[in-house]
Amino acid sequence: MSVLVISPGRDPEAWVRELKNQHPGMDVHVYPEDHDKEEVEYAISWKHPRGIFKNYPNLKVIASMGAGVDHITSDPELPEHVKITRIVDEQLTIDMSDFVLALIMDHLRNISYHYCSSEWEPKKYMRIQDTHVGIMGLGTLGSGVAGKLVKNGFKVSGWANSAKEQEGVTTYSGGDLDDFLEELDILICLLPLTGETENILSRNLFEKLPKGAYLINVARGEHLVEQDLLDCVNTGQLSGAGLDVFRKEPLPEEHPFWSNPRIHVTPHIASVTDPKHVVPQLVENYERMTEGEELKNVVAREKGY
Ligand code: GLV
Repeated sequence: MSVLVISPGRDPEAWVRELKNQHPGMDVHVYPEDHDKEEVEYAISWKHPRGIFKNYPNLKVIASMGAGVDHITSDPELPEHVKITRIVDEQLTIDMSDFVLALIMDHLRNISYHYCSSEWEPKKYMRIQDTHVGIMGLGTLGSGVAGKLVKNGFKVSGWANSAKEQEGVTTYSGGDLDDFLEELDILICLLPLTGETENILSRNLFEKLPKGAYLINVARGEHLVEQDLLDCVNTGQLSGAGLDVFRKEPLPEEHPFWSNPRIHVTPHIASVTDPKHVVPQLVENYERMTEGEELKNVVAREKGY
């Protein structure tokens, strides 16, 4: 029985090293190096080449290297019986919360604006206690961010597909989306990417926000209709956006987001999994699989998260 690490575009070395440190007997291979496909029962994956998993007849589990699993579930040739797991890691939630707080403070205090300006031109700023932040998606990351913002004195609302409760957060669900949006100064997207949430950040939604609201997308590029954002920033319906994720990554050089002073681009760095932190949970699930026990952090395939 062997484990396959598949991570084109991400260096697998640290993952392999941690797997071998933390489970010395594990037979680990790196795709596409030579390996016996029949032996592979456990795959650890990030953005695998589409369609490859159907060639592994004994594959039981695909473990995502990150919190998101859309890079796995979007493969139409995924074998039905294979279980998918995702990373749930406290450090990922802390990193995401810190990053979102930094973007919010940058926006409230116009820090990037002043850095980029060559004039001594003090701009009016907003205060935390006067700022209403809304978070779409109240899963592990969304609720972690909401908690951090509550602690820091923001007014916080959250919207999720199903009803959720969280201390200090006004929560909305399903069809209450318009009510959730109507008073926000800042909207944060932390939704999972599914058929239902793709393109949700559109003109239709932006027009339900108060004029001048600010968007932060730290979920997936596919949530956003890019032209609608550009249009709404041009008309002033949105005052700007902080984007960490894009339909095409790296964001192409000629993309209009780069040159728009009100759109702040970061290269998908909000919250990056550290193999040292998360390999223990991958090893635990590997052992659970070999013992025939129930796995942790399994994705509901029909929901896509
Ligand atoms: C990063 O985007 C992740 O899904 O972990």
